[in-house]
Amino acid sequence: MPTATPIDEINQELAVQGNGIYATNCARCHSTAEDRIVGPGHRGVYETAKTRVEGLSAEEYLIQSIVDPGAYVVTAYPPFMPSFSFFTDEQIAALVEYLKTL
Ligand code: HEC
Repeated sequence: MPTATPIDEINQELAVQGNGIYATNCARCHSTAEDRIVGPGHRGVYETAKTRVEGLSAEEYLIQSIVDPGAYVVTAYPPFMPSFSFFTDEQIAALVEYLKTL
């Protein structure tokens, strides 16, 4: 079972900011549990992200998933995720920090 990142390794302020961005932009397609909505549930996504693309760290993979979702499409899902390349670096960092907590 994937586990969420230990709490002391999370920048809480950034993660809270990411939670807000996620609620507005991501939650309509993603559950924070394991169930499928349009996209895969994000429970344990940071652990999964470590293994997705050879040569990409978990952070790099998550950033790529947000700005260039078509670069790697999760098996058995349609390529329906829009790019969020208009987010600032800080917004993206906040989202990644939040995803670490799931
Ligand atoms: C219109 C629906 C939709 C929206 C909105 C959306 N996604 Fe997705 N997302 C998907 C789908 C479908 C997939 C699976 C196909 C793929 O990999 O592109 C996916 C895949 C992902 C993955 C890869 C998961 C994995 O297991 O490898 C991440 C990470 C992700 N989305 C994050 C986000 C974040 C963060 C947001 C908000 C900024 C967001 N998504 C908004 C539909 C969406």
